[in-house]
Amino acid sequence: MKEKVSRIGVSLEPSLLKKFDSMIEKMYYKNRSEAIRDAVREYIAKNELKLGKGKSIGVISIIYKHSKRNVIKNLIEIQHFYSQMIKTNLHFHLSKDKCMELIILRGKTKKLKEIKNKLTSLPGVEKSDMLITIGLDF
Ligand code: NI
Repeated sequence: MKEKVSRIGVSLEPSLLKKFDSMIEKMYYKNRSEAIRDAVREYIAKNELKLGKGKSIGVISIIYKHSKRNVIKNLIEIQHFYSQMIKTNLHFHLSKDKCMELIILRGKTKKLKEIKNKLTSLPGVEKSDMLITIGLDF
């Protein structure tokens, strides 16, 4: 069922409004309301992420040296421990001794950050990143 919308009034300095209008035109928004709705969603998501609240979907990428002692064993153990949240992963061989793994996961934002930190801190893991999408209703 579609939710009823509430109308709100916002006061902005003309210079800020001018910048906003110019930006929403560049971003192909048809009207201010849609751009403001997206901005509000992004504001909430950004702060939920900062506070570690809500649920998210994420992609963790890690680059590691596969010859490093126990690194593969530790990576697999962590992923099995969180198997309820880990949906899939991709592995590719970057070079003679380096591998890259992409892990797609879903769950509480706090847990996603926890998994990312556990993977990042493993000896042998040289680089890691997480792309996280938060604020979805699922
Ligand atoms: Ni490999």
